[in-house]
Amino acid sequence: MKILLIGSGAREHAIVKALDRSSHEKEIYCLASNRNPGISDLCDKFIVGDINDSYFVLDYAKEVGASLAIVGPENPLAQGVSDCLWDAGVKTVGPKKYLAQLETSKAFTRDLLKAYNIPGSPKYQTFDSMNGVMEFLNELGENYVVKYDGLAGGKGVKVAGDHLHSHDEALAYCKNMVDDGSDFVIEEKFVGQEFSLMSFCDGDNLKHMPAVQDHKRAYEGDKGPNTGGMGTYSDVNHGLPFLTDGDIAKAHAINTATAKALKDKFGEEYKGILYGGFMITSNGVKLIEYNARFGDPEAMNVLSLLESDFIDICIGIVNGTLDQVDVRFSNKATVCKYAVPEGYPDSPVKGEPIDVSGISNPDGLFYASVDIQNGQLVEAGSRTVAVVGMADTISDAEKLAENEVSSIKGPLFHRTDIGTDIIIQKRIDHINSLR
Ligand code: AMP
Ligand code: GLY
Repeated sequence: MKILLIGSGAREHAIVKALDRSSHEKEIYCLASNRNPGISDLCDKFIVGDINDSYFVLDYAKEVGASLAIVGPENPLAQGVSDCLWDAGVKTVGPKKYLAQLETSKAFTRDLLKAYNIPGSPKYQTFDSMNGVMEFLNELGENYVVKYDGLAGGKGVKVAGDHLHSHDEALAYCKNMVDDGSDFVIEEKFVGQEFSLMSFCDGDNLKHMPAVQDHKRAYEGDKGPNTGGMGTYSDVNHGLPFLTDGDIAKAHAINTATAKALKDKFGEEYKGILYGGFMITSNGVKLIEYNARFGDPEAMNVLSLLESDFIDICIGIVNGTLDQVDVRFSNKATVCKYAVPEGYPDSPVKGEPIDVSGISNPDGLFYASVDIQNGQLVEAGSRTVAVVGMADTISDAEKLAENEVSSIKGPLFHRTDIGTDIIIQKRIDHINSLR
């Protein structure tokens, strides 16, 4: 089987490792946006090109004779790469453009959940002008979030208390969006702990992955600017230390109901990864957002734990036979930590050499925003390298990950606190104080 992987970050390195472990006869091709040596080592052919250009992607898929494609990041999904591949007969893991609106439009998702009575949504309103903005902010008081209605790499969301400190600031942000011709959503702010619950989805059947908690802030103690995610952990029982089995079941039910709603609305199946970003609050499990792909770093946690054959799962997704696939994850805890360039995310250093020769377990090493210049591995300006520690407790997995990430040399930094006993206890105490 000839498989085309689209994308070249650490998430895609985790995907290619999972493909490589499969017992299927396969040839793997990658269309990348940077020279990722971890991915190219495991591929039959690896080229760098515009992964967001549907026709370029399709030409490459035809050239290599791919019968299966896997789309890693969200931008190609937003551009309709999956539609183009399916139309040409290439079965694709990653939803078509209309279905990927679940990630690309905040208003679409809120309206869908409301129309189908799916629980977990905040009070919200959508806007394309300033009409009614002040009234709705007054109704929400100090608990509001303003969201640009499109893909903005996490930068379009401004939360009261964190990024916006008065209604005047909120109104100014809204006015900017109106002036740019952008739509936006204002919604009720939730307080609690976030977690990611991703499901493999063939449109009718879902197989849920272990829950994971990400750390979006750049610095220790959840301080500093938002990032793509500095690190993640998962627990032995596939829940999280601050969640009950009932909380996990509610998140599963929301993902299942959402897939069903999409099929009902479009008459077409959502085939790919359904990634619910949830928050556990004093009022139960709430839905913060959906993504239409694997999380990054979450993919490194869950795919490291995956015991089943990943190609069987991909075939189940594209053929609508996921119910017949045995999807199992090992009962281990994982901690993933990212080493990122000095100055990340606002003014990252770029082009500086890094050295990963001190890593003791290459299976747990995932290359992300790196490049090769004159034969030397260098930082390419975003999250650079991730490592995963796996053990019988989160605490032991953290020690493994910390040892590995601190062995990487170069102008980098990482969060030493992710997965430590102290930060996990803080999460538990926070939720206990809310329940
Ligand atoms: P999103 O792109 O919708 O995930 O938003 C980015 C981040 O903003 C989330 O990971 C949350 O930390 C925060 N956020 C978004 N919506 C809400 C909400 N309704 N209540 C509290 N925090 C939120
Ligand atoms: N870990 C956050 C994301 O992938 O969007």
